[in-house]
Amino acid sequence: MEFPSGAGSIRVLHRVSLDVAYGAMTFLVGPSGSGKTTMLSILSGTLSPTDGAVEVMGERLDQMRDAELVRFRRRRIGFIFQQYNLIGTLTAAENAAIPLIADGTKTETATRRATDVLAQLGLADHAWKLPRQLSGGQQQRVAIARALVHEPALIVCDEPTAALDAEAGQGVMRLLEDAAKSPDRAVLVVTHDDRIYRFADRILHIEDGRIAPDADHGEPRHAH
Ligand SMILES: Nc1ncnc2c1ncn2[C@@H]1O[C@H](COP(=O)(O)OP(=O)(O)OP(=O)(O)O)[C@@H](O)[C@H]1O
Ligand SMILES: [Mg+2]
Repeated sequence: MEFPSGAGSIRVLHRVSLDVAYGAMTFLVGPSGSGKTTMLSILSGTLSPTDGAVEVMGERLDQMRDAELVRFRRRRIGFIFQQYNLIGTLTAAENAAIPLIADGTKTETATRRATDVLAQLGLADHAWKLPRQLSGGQQQRVAIARALVHEPALIVCDEPTAALDAEAGQGVMRLLEDAAKSPDRAVLVVTHDDRIYRFADRILHIEDGRIAPDADHGEPRHAH
C-alpha cells in the first residue's frame, strides 16, 4: 500500500500476511503510524490497496467489483471503532440493526434481532435510548451489538477501548472475548492499550508496515 506524500509517495505496508484464528482474539500492536488502521481497512474491504493481491477468508478482495466488495463487507465483517460511530438520531436498537437493514432485512425484524443482541450485552433497558443518553461504555456496547447482529465471520476493532476508562474498557473486552469464543468467528483488535493485552490469545507486532516474525507466538494467556 502506498499513500501520496509530498511530490512522491510513501509505502506503508510491505507484503504483509497475518493469521487470525477462529475462536480467538488476535491483537495487532505497534507504534503510531506503523500501518495498523491501514491494514484493518484493507482486509475489511474499506480501502483498496495501490498494488498487490488481498485474500481474506478465501476471497480475493482485489478482484471484486465494488458491489461485491460492499456485500462482502456487509455480510462477513463487523466493525468496532474507537469513537463508536453511532448515528445520533437513531436509538440503540436502530443503530445495532443497521447491518441487517443495509443487507435487506425488514426494519421490524432487524430491530427485534438487534434488541435481543443488546439484551445479551446487558443493555435490555437501554435499547430505546439515543446514543447521547448512554455512557461511553454503553455506547461501545451498542457498537458491539452492531458488529455482532449479522453474525459476521470476522470482527475488526480499531482501538476499541481508547475512549473508555479502565473499568468500561475491561467490560467491553470481556464482551468481545465472549464473541470470540464462537468457533466460526475471529476477532482482530488493533490497540496500543496495554491494559487490555491480557485479553489476547495471540499478539502480532507491526512496525513500519511489516509484521514481525512470530517472536511472540503462543504468548501465554493470563487468567482473568
Ligand atoms: N489517506 C492517507 N493519505 C496519506 N497517508 C496516509 C493515509 N492514511 C494513512 N497514511 C499514512 O500511512 C501510515 C500508516 O497510517 P495508519 O493510520 O495505518 O497508522 P496506525 O498504525 O493506525 O497509527 P495510529 O496508532 O496512530 O492509529 C502513516 O504514515 C500515515 O501518515
Ligand atoms: Mg490507527
